[in-house]
Amino acid sequence: MEAPIPVIDIGRLDSPATRAAIDRACRDWGFFQIVGHGLDGALADRIMAASRAFFAQPAALKRRLLRDAENPWGYYDQELTKNRRDWKEIYDHGSSDGQRLAPRWPEAPLRETFEPAVRAYHGACTTLARRLLAAMAVNLGAPPQALLHGFGDRHASFLRLNHYPPQPDPSGTGPAVLGVGEHTDSGALTLLLQDAQPGLEVQRDGRWHAVPPLAGALVVNIGDIVQVWSNDLYTAVVHRAVVDPLHDRYSVPFFFNPSYDTDYEPLPGAVTPERPAR
Ligand code: OGA
Ligand code: NI
Repeated sequence: MEAPIPVIDIGRLDSPATRAAIDRACRDWGFFQIVGHGLDGALADRIMAASRAFFAQPAALKRRLLRDAENPWGYYDQELTKNRRDWKEIYDHGSSDGQRLAPRWPEAPLRETFEPAVRAYHGACTTLARRLLAAMAVNLGAPPQALLHGFGDRHASFLRLNHYPPQPDPSGTGPAVLGVGEHTDSGALTLLLQDAQPGLEVQRDGRWHAVPPLAGALVVNIGDIVQVWSNDLYTAVVHRAVVDPLHDRYSVPFFFNPSYDTDYEPLPGAVTPERPAR
């Protein structure tokens, strides 16, 4: 039987065995799940609860927070992946840059629990993503800090709340819809929290592999920028989310993106890959 998508306990991230497991997962899959990551389970529960409460609001309230061409943070329900409408609604939160970019918050009383949960979860993901990227740098033959300079105060990371409503036409006679169509993530790394409802799928060997929900775990995947830094040793793998005929699904990706003025080129230590036969 084929090996499943790896689950790695990163409780001892500095140990050579843990780093080797991460390196293997990055080469073989570009996707893995982590446990022992130190991100507080109560905080993960809070962000999920905040997300459910947010999307449960009347459409008119959500649409007051619509993102626009000036400021991408806020609510959106018309997103396209490769020109096809995704069957989802989203809320994006990134930092203010003191100019155009500014978070949009729901009104009280929801804001009173929502804003602290979003801010705390964004902060916890930033810390964890830095630790993972330091481990990857070492795996690529560089010092731990080698990839981190673009991730100081002005990194362009953002947190997304995804809500995938049930399939609009459960009889299956209408056009098939996807929650999010196939794509790679354009940043450095993505950390994804998913609820208990399956839906995330990863493409390998021309087939789709489900990433089963695992309580307490986070899904990590390589984005286009780490692919460049690794000189294609690690690939930003194509993935998508399918929707269920009956059940809502919620996920919370954190896209770890360097500041907009970061240049990328392969790390000197990243050798030309001899890709293992898949
Ligand atoms: C994304 C994504 C997958 C999911 O938002 O980029 O791939 O399971 N989401 O929600
Ligand atoms: Ni994605």
